[in-house]
Amino acid sequence: MRKSALIGMLAAMAVPIVGSSACAPEATTAIDVNALAEGSYPAPAGNELTIGAAAAATGRYFGAAIDVNALAEGPYRALAGNELTAVTPENAMKWGEVEPQRGVFDWRPADELVGFAKAHGQKIRGHTLVWHGQLPSWFVDGNFAPNEVKALMLAHVSTEVGRFKGSIYAWDVVNEPLADNGGWRDNIFLKAMGPDYVSLALNAAHKADPGAKLYVNEYGVETSGPKMEALYDLVASLKRDGVPIDGVGLQCHLVSGAAPGDLPDVMRRFASLGVDVAVTELDLRIRSPATERDLQTQAADYARVVSACRMTKRCVGATAWGITDGHSWIPGFFQGYGAALPFDEGYRPKPAVAAILKAFAAPGP
Ligand code: XIL
Repeated sequence: MRKSALIGMLAAMAVPIVGSSACAPEATTAIDVNALAEGSYPAPAGNELTIGAAAAATGRYFGAAIDVNALAEGPYRALAGNELTAVTPENAMKWGEVEPQRGVFDWRPADELVGFAKAHGQKIRGHTLVWHGQLPSWFVDGNFAPNEVKALMLAHVSTEVGRFKGSIYAWDVVNEPLADNGGWRDNIFLKAMGPDYVSLALNAAHKADPGAKLYVNEYGVETSGPKMEALYDLVASLKRDGVPIDGVGLQCHLVSGAAPGDLPDVMRRFASLGVDVAVTELDLRIRSPATERDLQTQAADYARVVSACRMTKRCVGATAWGITDGHSWIPGFFQGYGAALPFDEGYRPKPAVAAILKAFAAPGP
């Protein structure tokens, strides 16, 4: 059988991952994607430099969230393998995915991602341990007492971080702990433990893998305002108390044309607390259908975000929330929007790619 036919057949077997928390675990990995050959994709015209290499030239990484099932598609696999120097599992390491039933673990998709990253010399950002989203239903609906919620959270953190000890560059230990007004987000962890759940989770992660960088990751904190200030105060107090926190993740799910101008100041402020900063989930959504002009505006915003990182000493790298518009959470979650990523559905580079290359190539601070 021709290789392309084989890949086509395997791609047809792959299960789409959006909304996959409801997927039966055995349906997620019918194939060993690491045994698949890579395809090809249209490389950026007249430019051999990849975005990962451009980032590396400044001592940073450029990564993307990876849909493990899509790795069965040749061009997706080639793009992810060639262009990126870091990967984040889009869903494969979330609690609901790894422990769909209490005490029953399915590590296969996460292991595939780790294998892929190692084969391509990429850093792995582990995502995410303590979050209100994509939790297993047995945990959410279990009517556990506060001390049980605490014990289950700590066991989950130790088990998962321990399972991947030595392989993960950075963990998003706590994801989205804040409400938009700057208060605490009301979630199952806050209800059981109060704000202490954050330091408890960080300490447990540190114990399980002292070599991994530990992050708090948040959205809506890319411009100054109550939520950004609240995150600043939280990180400052964690540092004061000697809690192991190494970095702040700014998700950067942004609307194209509206990337905040004060992002460099925000990064500098977080860095002044003595932590790393990273752009962790960058996408710039466009109202559909995207015009050529929209793509130029988007390119300018990609450049703005990347150059904010490039100009901040402690900004270690940027991760896009996907690589191609054909595999993006945006159309499913933001009605009427799409085209948010650097490569289009045909794996062709959009104007954003040249803009990212140029932003990394500019002189540093
Ligand atoms: C999203 C994934 O992209 C989707 O596939 C999934 O159905 C829902 O979660 N903030 C985060 C990410 O931290 O984990 C989310 O990922 C997007 C928002």
